[in-house]
Amino acid sequence: MIVDRDKLREAGFIVPDGPVTGISEEFRIIKRQLLMVAKGSPKTAPVPHGERILICSAHPNEGKTFCALNLALSIAAEKDNEVLLVDADFAKPSILSSLGLEGSKGLMDALADPELPVENCIIHTDIPGLAILPAGDQTNADTEYLASARTEQVLDRLTRHNPNRIVIFDSPPALSASPASVLATHVGQVLMVVKADETTETALRDALSLMGGCEHIQLLLNGTKFSPTGRRFGSYYGYGE
Ligand SMILES: Nc1ncnc2c1ncn2[C@@H]1O[C@H](COP(=O)(O)OP(=O)(O)OP(=O)(O)O)[C@@H](O)[C@H]1O
Ligand SMILES: [Mg+2]
Repeated sequence: MIVDRDKLREAGFIVPDGPVTGISEEFRIIKRQLLMVAKGSPKTAPVPHGERILICSAHPNEGKTFCALNLALSIAAEKDNEVLLVDADFAKPSILSSLGLEGSKGLMDALADPELPVENCIIHTDIPGLAILPAGDQTNADTEYLASARTEQVLDRLTRHNPNRIVIFDSPPALSASPASVLATHVGQVLMVVKADETTETALRDALSLMGGCEHIQLLLNGTKFSPTGRRFGSYYGYGE
């Protein structure tokens, strides 16, 4: 399927083969950190399931989807990695519309229906290295499906034939939706987006405690101001255990 480049550009996303911008440079730095944890370095072993990365935040509207999509676009541009961007915000999916793609079956359908192979739900895009797994139909038991034993088998299928695939999950907010903490138990890394000047320390601590299922959590301080001229990230901090 063809991704709508104009839509990406208008919403301030990284445009494939577009000019180098502040945003694209900042995501390069973030990407390197995450890939190093996923693949290991000469000094550190790869983290188990470090190729699965959950993009979370305490509250809605802190920039999870913005970061998940930009990170996916940035990693897709790597020569030796491909990306599967999973819309795991089942209640409020927004990845397909951000890319101008049509809806179809997705992760929740594959979790609910053992007859439906999850790989059949993957949408391949015209951006080299970028594939999308839509959220699928919402049920009233999203969290229960995610917590079921079958989820791990379904997620394993996403990388079984693609060892160079990085899987990015766009999460719902941790403090207002229960699937986030269950998703954290399935991934090797969590990237916690913190909105500058808005996320309180208490909210951040609460959100981090809900991510206890994952040992590797990093924080990303997002946009001090989302003005047309001042669009940028603050710094990127590692979060030590
Ligand atoms: N660094 C940034 N620069 C410019 N715009 C941004 C930035 N971060 C977020 N935005 C914009 O702010 C709005 C909210 O961001 P986004 O949808 O990513 O939040 P979210 O955490 O996914 O929210 P929700 O929990 O509702 O899914 C979007 O319009 C997004 O494009
Ligand atoms: Mg979102």
